[in-house]
Amino acid sequence: RKPKVTVIGSINMDMVTTTSKVPNQGETILGDAFQTAFGGKGANQAVAAARLGADVAMIGRVGDDPFGQLLLNGLEQEGICIDSVEPVTGESSGVATILLSEGDNRIIVTPGANRCVDSAYIESFRELIVQSDVVVIQLEIPLQAVDYAVTICSEEGVPVILNPAPAQTLSVETYRRATYLTPNESEYNELFTTFYEELEEKLIVTQGANGVQWSEDGERKRIAGHTASVVDTTGAGDTFNGALAVALARKESLEEAITFANAAAALSVQAFGAQTGMPKEEQVKAFLNNTGGI
Ligand code: RIB
Ligand code: NA
Repeated sequence: RKPKVTVIGSINMDMVTTTSKVPNQGETILGDAFQTAFGGKGANQAVAAARLGADVAMIGRVGDDPFGQLLLNGLEQEGICIDSVEPVTGESSGVATILLSEGDNRIIVTPGANRCVDSAYIESFRELIVQSDVVVIQLEIPLQAVDYAVTICSEEGVPVILNPAPAQTLSVETYRRATYLTPNESEYNELFTTFYEELEEKLIVTQGANGVQWSEDGERKRIAGHTASVVDTTGAGDTFNGALAVALARKESLEEAITFANAAAALSVQAFGAQTGMPKEEQVKAFLNNTGGI
């Protein structure tokens, strides 16, 4: 059977302005292009996992605005189960305002309906969580709900990947309950340096083009990044997390899973938007064969 991955988290419409220059305070400039794209860290991770062959359920919420319906359709078209995505009456869908400049981004997320992914909502899907091989969660929903979801997973013995993005402080108890913590370098520096020793065996630190670092059986390990022609790095971290979840759900070794996720993330940056460039499983395998991976 297909591995079962459940993603708990945010669903956003990304409003992307491409510009050669970003404005200073009080300054108006002319941008180059505007596009909307499906996004939200949770939805992105769900799409990455679905393209890579998992049976994916999303636990999240959208608004009752036109974006909400578009976002639901987008998830459904990827084959993701949206029974656990309930629209919130009178609320707007999550929106991310993104300035894309020279392949890099600046983002403001307005959570809207994502704020309603609270502990009670998550509790109502406990059965779904229990039946998952791996759960993935990030920090664009209320932090109490994140604590709650991670606690359910640890109580029920379900492996949970906690992607601490965007960086916000959770209780160390929550970090301890997570199976893996997947900060990028800046999130790692902001949140984890003081807990490094205690959490060392859970931490998987992504470093963009510089690859990934983690520890296993007391040994520090790292794999190099791949050289990619970068169009848009938005969603690269989400691709990594979605891919990692699939590989771990397939019971691959940690090193194999990280290698797979690192390759998937490198492929994802070669197209516009968070989700467009996310690869299928065959593409990742072909890429790893060509680059001499596993
Ligand atoms: O990680 C990228 C995502 O962050 C974007 O899709 C945007 O919606 C923000 O949530
Ligand atoms: Na991309």
